[in-house]
Amino acid sequence: MGDGPRFSSAEHGFLRDMRERWEQRARVDFRFFTATKSRDEAEWASHADGEAAWFLRGLDPDRLSNQVLLDVGCGPARLLARLAPAFRIAIGVDISATMLAHARHETRDHPNVDVVRSGGHGLEFLRDGTTHCVVMHAAAIHMPLDLIRRYFREVHRVLAPSGRFRCTVNRLTDTVDDRAEASSLVEEAICRAPEGGEELVHGQDYGGHSFTEPELAALLDASGFAPVVVERVGPLTLAVDATRP
Ligand SMILES: C[S@@+](CC[C@H](N)C(=O)[O-])C[C@H]1O[C@@H](n2cnc3c(N)ncnc32)[C@H](O)[C@@H]1O
Repeated sequence: MGDGPRFSSAEHGFLRDMRERWEQRARVDFRFFTATKSRDEAEWASHADGEAAWFLRGLDPDRLSNQVLLDVGCGPARLLARLAPAFRIAIGVDISATMLAHARHETRDHPNVDVVRSGGHGLEFLRDGTTHCVVMHAAAIHMPLDLIRRYFREVHRVLAPSGRFRCTVNRLTDTVDDRAEASSLVEEAICRAPEGGEELVHGQDYGGHSFTEPELAALLDASGFAPVVVERVGPLTLAVDATRP
């Protein structure tokens, strides 16, 4: 069982604030703040169907049915509920108790799902090598580099040999057009924000570290993953498909 990385009191303060902000987002409108900026249930669900299929691409369904899935930053189980039927056991972890209350409701018909609230910086509730597939979508995009680094090491620790890690992070926008698109997406999100949620869209903890493709590949390599495939999935996002040797 991992002890989890040591933290300074400033870092604990940062995580406490992070939790509080996600609690507020989950209370104001958990759908809006979960990946799509959509407040419409049907639109949210259809987007989730597409993303869940994307995360399962290339994986052998016969093998998955004996495997353990971990969803880091699972939120209201938008993806977890859709991925769980493919696995023997599916575990979601999140920093926000309110998100997890939604997740329990969303997965009420899936007896193989368990959700865990964490301190927000590790996977200390899991023993080494006990999971086979880890998904971390739209969660690292809100984290600073140090925290992402800790999570990558933790994911490596809890994965069994040949385990897969699929994750999305922010892509460093490197052209004027990319930067213009990034600003217009933020403007659009603020316009669509629910009442009382405008400030939560662009609060200081909302945007996490942004990577170039080589920087991301190097961090995964340093965390022990190989092979690592980094794919650009839009102007603002990089997706990782990495294996624990
Ligand atoms: C944008 S939502 C995405 C939720 C889900 N992965 C999805 O795709 O629907 C981000 C989630 O990450 C969680 N989160 C934020 N910081 C976290 C941390 N340090 N540790 C664990 N979860 C965190 C939030 O509470 C929130 O539920």
